[in-house]
Amino acid sequence: MSGNDRPEGQPTQTSHAVAGAAADKTSSPFLRACRREPVPHTPVWFMRQAGRSLPEYRKVREDIAMLDSCMRPDLVAEITLQPVRRHKVDAAIYFSDIVVPLKAIGVDLDIKPGVGPVVEKPIRTRADLERLRPLDPEDVSYVTEAVGILTRELGATPLIGFAGAPFTLASYLVEGGPSKNHERTKALMYGDPELWADLLDRLADITAAFLKVQIEAGANAVQLFDSWVGALAPDDYRRSVQPASRKVFGAVAGYGVPRIHFGVGTGELLGLMGEAGADVVGADWRVPVDEAARRVGPGKAIQGNLDPAVLFAPREAVERQAAHILQAARGLEGHIFNLGHGVLPDTDPQALTDLVAYVHEHSAR
Ligand code: CP3
Repeated sequence: MSGNDRPEGQPTQTSHAVAGAAADKTSSPFLRACRREPVPHTPVWFMRQAGRSLPEYRKVREDIAMLDSCMRPDLVAEITLQPVRRHKVDAAIYFSDIVVPLKAIGVDLDIKPGVGPVVEKPIRTRADLERLRPLDPEDVSYVTEAVGILTRELGATPLIGFAGAPFTLASYLVEGGPSKNHERTKALMYGDPELWADLLDRLADITAAFLKVQIEAGANAVQLFDSWVGALAPDDYRRSVQPASRKVFGAVAGYGVPRIHFGVGTGELLGLMGEAGADVVGADWRVPVDEAARRVGPGKAIQGNLDPAVLFAPREAVERQAAHILQAARGLEGHIFNLGHGVLPDTDPQALTDLVAYVHEHSAR
């Protein structure tokens, strides 16, 4: 699928998107808000906007395993476009998963439905580290291809590339799968700081290489997901995680694309996460956006932060909560409306479409 031979009758553009090479993504509300410039309305997109909440997603994924779908540029492009068509969000997020670059360098892992990433042989010793070789752009040529399709198809709608941050990737690798308490991860972090630092450093290089592939192929912004880093206290974050995350942000600073940093339960870490080098810091619903901005400090935009569970309440209640966030964000330098974490699989997609319209209408300037 390219911009010129789109199948008949398949809508591909948002209301504010124009197809073609001349399409001006740079002045889109999303990128303007990332740069803390004035916007016609507050831009909105949702983490996990592509995925199980959409019947059209469930249909195309019917017989295809998650990781297989991530390696097929045509499917990646289609799934990435689905929420843009349906909800008229202000940005697309590249459809993939945080473990894709690890799979690409040969780590034996799979994504188990209803569970998440599972690693066959967890990484816990120095010898295990050798299995984490550097990522070559050739390892993920399908990403370059899919981003190429998407930058054409999306017109004026910007594309967000993403990667998992070193701590969150390390948690899956060390635990061998999803974890509530991250006990083995923390045991390594406290018990062998040198091995831990080397592990995170290798992951930083892999992550940076993966983000570069997406940016060089045309991604207009990148988000670094440190979903589980909220499990740490600030001192531990500063000592054991921040150097690696800083390395990732530093490696892509020269491209000039906005860099977003997000984690769950990170209220006490927001300042330190901003210091790691992001241009935009995402907050979950536990900290109001104005307070998040105060903690992050000047010179950075804020992204967030409706509790994804609120979308299960009646429309009036969703709108009340959204209004509350828009009100709190009024004085901020830059605000991108989002959820405080990903769309939950059972969310009614209409609630998301309605929310986008509400945010656009009630933030129009
Ligand atoms: O729309 C988007 O946001 C892009 C898609 C996206 C996926 N994973 C697709 C996916 C993104 C941004 C991710 C990132 C990701 N993956 C994170 C960081 C974001 C977050 O939610 O905190 C994390 C921690 C993972 C690891 C992971 N992969 C989990 C926890 C799961 C869910 C397990 C389950 O089945 O409940 C996955 C699988 C996954 N990644 C799915 C999707 C759509 C579901 C698999 C499916 O549809 O079969």
